[in-house]
Amino acid sequence: MKNENKSPTEDLQGYFEFLAALGLTKHMGSMNATRELVELCHIGDGSYVLDVGCGVGATPICLAKTHNCQVLGIDLLETMVEQSRKRAIEEGVQDRVDFGVADARSLPFEDDCFDAVIAESLNVFFDEKLKAVKEYMRVTRPGGYVGITEMTWLKPPTPEAIEYYKRTVYADVLESDEWRKLLEEAGLKNIVANAYRIDIPAESKGRFERYGCRGIARVMLRTLRTIIKEPSARAFLTDVTSSFPKDMLGDMGYGVYVGKK
Ligand SMILES: C[S@@+](CC[C@H](N)C(=O)[O-])C[C@H]1O[C@@H](n2cnc3c(N)ncnc32)[C@H](O)[C@@H]1O
Repeated sequence: MKNENKSPTEDLQGYFEFLAALGLTKHMGSMNATRELVELCHIGDGSYVLDVGCGVGATPICLAKTHNCQVLGIDLLETMVEQSRKRAIEEGVQDRVDFGVADARSLPFEDDCFDAVIAESLNVFFDEKLKAVKEYMRVTRPGGYVGITEMTWLKPPTPEAIEYYKRTVYADVLESDEWRKLLEEAGLKNIVANAYRIDIPAESKGRFERYGCRGIARVMLRTLRTIIKEPSARAFLTDVTSSFPKDMLGDMGYGVYVGKK
């Protein structure tokens, strides 16, 4: 039963339910990160791809439109999966994408079944990062690729910066070398690790590419409605924007990390 006293963003699940209700999920680096991931993972004609933590389905749908591949998107939340399915039908790609509920840390697939497994802005949200990456590798076929794109500290973070990201968006961000080591420890080979600064215009452009003008307008309307109706959502958004430690602007970036099985 819904606890009426609980803020919708009070825990990690509540935070993601909140994003699902707005109809928008994202990862830093947006389409630039996705394009690099696709290239480094050699995703192309006929590839069978698993997108773990697919959110509202933007990446699987983009891949189905731009590449002649088959994509399975999975997410821990049923609400994300429902939105992804609806969106795939709206975009007319339901024959090339499929969605289901599953946990990244215990994938319900046999060994060696995908050509590439990707996860965008997912591993940053849980402690069992190695367990999850080992799962991505297990279900990837020999010679296939595992690729992740994640928030990345470009400089060693201050305690305030670590606290801000953990408190506001539940993110346990790593430095580039730590992400690389994670892939190495999982047993992946030929690792590529590229870290970048955030490019604000590219982030906005990528969001329009992923959701289209109509999609963005819909998200803006939903956000406005939520802000007006839900005091706890209003408090959350105020906290995220007002407590941002401005002196760390530029310390946070994103990285694209890929290895071969
Ligand atoms: C920041 S969003 C990114 C979504 C998507 N990859 C994108 O770029 O738009 C993270 C997503 O991971 C999902 N998630 C969180 N923990 C998960 C887990 N253990 N297994 C699968 N999905 C998970 C959340 O529900 C959410 O949809």
